[in-house]
Amino acid sequence: MISLLSFFEDVRAKSSSADGPQDEAKRAAADAVLAQVEPGMTLGLGTGSTVDFFLQALAQRTRDGLQVQGVPTSSQTERRAKELGIPLLGEGEFRRVKNQLCVDGADRVDLAGRLIKGGGGALLREKLVATHSSQVCILVDPSKLVSVFDSTFPLPVECLDFGVEDTLEKIRRLGCEVTLRDSSGGGRLRTDNGNVIADCVFHQIADPVATELRLNAIPGIVEVGIFSDLLDLLVVGFPDGTSLTCSTKELAR
Ligand code: A5P
Repeated sequence: MISLLSFFEDVRAKSSSADGPQDEAKRAAADAVLAQVEPGMTLGLGTGSTVDFFLQALAQRTRDGLQVQGVPTSSQTERRAKELGIPLLGEGEFRRVKNQLCVDGADRVDLAGRLIKGGGGALLREKLVATHSSQVCILVDPSKLVSVFDSTFPLPVECLDFGVEDTLEKIRRLGCEVTLRDSSGGGRLRTDNGNVIADCVFHQIADPVATELRLNAIPGIVEVGIFSDLLDLLVVGFPDGTSLTCSTKELAR
């Protein structure tokens, strides 16, 4: 298993001296990954506030003549990409064409390069698009890096609404506190797929791979927000506008 320990230490050392607004850190990560985008690429387009900076930068490049095609991971990203004029592939084409690069954010990244995603409720399509991509690049600010997943961010789990109370009971038996996510407008949040999100607070997830497997074995669970073995490139932006990039493929060599 890879370890990002020395990269995390570099990020910590740099964070202590890089002051500035959090949005600048997100923008710096987004600008850095734009260098990976080549003409003609098919791109998985993630969801969230960090990805939004990438969409803005990508749109500028497409206006300047860069030709790419995007596959959105949520209706939110689809709307935003259309608004910005980024060309998108239709659903049928998505099945035929493998994305060359998927660019997404994350809620947490651990020392083994595993991710917690789903803070924006788009984890199912995010996982589908990431697994359908040759390379997955994750953009974060330094606050997202952790040694181990803990109670500072609840693990999002997408569940069928049908029989959900029973599903939640089975999730609780794994030793966490569970609540169903409400939408900001009131009422229960519905994902793009018509499902609900259970936010699961674990004191610690010592073995994320085993936890992902256990949760996915519970009937009624559609997908789990733990992404194991999907990260290829991690880009951390800093509030002073700089960034650090780590390739997990290079670490594995
Ligand atoms: C969306 O469902 C999530 O997986 C996002 O990628 C994650 O929440 C990161 O979002 P921010 O970039 O807004 O922090």
